[in-house]
Amino acid sequence: MVRLNRKLDPTRTGQEAEKLHADLHKRIVGQDEAIDQIVNIYQMYLAGMNGPGRPIGNFLFLGPTGSGKTRLVESTAEGLVGDARAMIKIDCAEFQHSHEIAKLIGSPPGYLGHRETHPLLSQEVLNQYHSEKIKLSFVLFDEIEKASDALWNLLLGILDKATLTLGDNRRVDFSRALIFMTSNLGATEMGSILRPNLGFGAAEIARRHESGQLDESTAGKISKAGVEAARRKFTPEFMNRIDKVVVFKPLGQAELRQILGLELNILQQRVFNTSATTPFVFSVTEPAKEFLLREGTDLKYGARHLKRAIDRALVHPMSNLIATQQIRGGDLIKVDFDPDANEMTFSKEAEDMPAYAMVQMVESSGLPMPQLSTGAVVEVPKIAARGRRTLAS
Ligand SMILES: Nc1ncnc2c1ncn2[C@@H]1O[C@H](COP(=O)(O)OP(=O)(O)OP(=O)(O)O)[C@@H](O)[C@H]1O
Ligand SMILES: [Mg+2]
Repeated sequence: MVRLNRKLDPTRTGQEAEKLHADLHKRIVGQDEAIDQIVNIYQMYLAGMNGPGRPIGNFLFLGPTGSGKTRLVESTAEGLVGDARAMIKIDCAEFQHSHEIAKLIGSPPGYLGHRETHPLLSQEVLNQYHSEKIKLSFVLFDEIEKASDALWNLLLGILDKATLTLGDNRRVDFSRALIFMTSNLGATEMGSILRPNLGFGAAEIARRHESGQLDESTAGKISKAGVEAARRKFTPEFMNRIDKVVVFKPLGQAELRQILGLELNILQQRVFNTSATTPFVFSVTEPAKEFLLREGTDLKYGARHLKRAIDRALVHPMSNLIATQQIRGGDLIKVDFDPDANEMTFSKEAEDMPAYAMVQMVESSGLPMPQLSTGAVVEVPKIAARGRRTLAS
């Protein structure tokens, strides 16, 4: 045997993990650490290096509301199995009493209604998005700090042994599942680190947060506040079963601006995809985007507030315009802002555009297009096939 002394590079990741990494970065703004942790665990799974008899990964996501915790889990499911609906979400607050736990695991045989209950966490439900190629499940336990003791015990069994025993004693195997748990614990403390009332540097911290450029020491304090709040609330027994605790950063103005771009694209794709709406193209001017950002910025509520502003100022009026046929298939609609009236304005710039022209317009909008599972803009023939007179050309 010839001895080699070839240096290897353990920082390189495989193609599939690279693909997931790139995919998540297209959909999620500013939560790099969380993305890295998911990709690392996925890479371990692909290499067959994850521990046997346990879930593929147990993640605890902490951080303020509207910072992308749930969206990241949905995006991971979309990226890996092509469908955000593959995420099974359990709202822990809804399972406080024993009859509610029965909804989760079914009731024992002999109990009234035993046959009618279909447990939410059965093997069939877990495996429903498995394909020949990829057999993965994504389970999200939301707001775990609200879980009852009975739910905690179930959760500990899943995290430790990848098994859940149903009411009728059947066993559910979670060894091909990624388990995500979320909690807002520590969010208040994080808020006061970012918005201190007093003290040297308060204005500077606020400015850096808004511009999305937190310095390392503040970012470190935020992480620490999250992890400490979790350690105070949860038992060591639980914390020891977690592979990765990730503290999501509160989003600043710069990140909200990027999310606005993503959300406008998602809305445009929805307009192209849903059979209920007639496909048309809209363009949003810079002043209109600034207005949406002003209306949608509340650093406490993160992107949730922004999404509400988009609904209020764009989606609702647009729905009215569609319902009253002021917007029709093949239209090009310009969305602008009128500073005197302090409101968004809608005008028609073109009509009867052929489908290919609309597709080109959307693709060249310059905004990053997240690849949605449904393959949005590629469906030109379907648009024409729906028999829209204006688009059939
Ligand atoms: N970092 C982000 N990147 C892209 N979009 C985001 C991000 N954060 C939030 N959003 C958008 O805001 C919406 C709400 O965010 P999400 O549901 O992920 O919040 P959350 O952190 O789970 O909050 P909560 O603690 O209230 O459940 C998402 O559906 C997504 O559209
Ligand atoms: Mg959530």
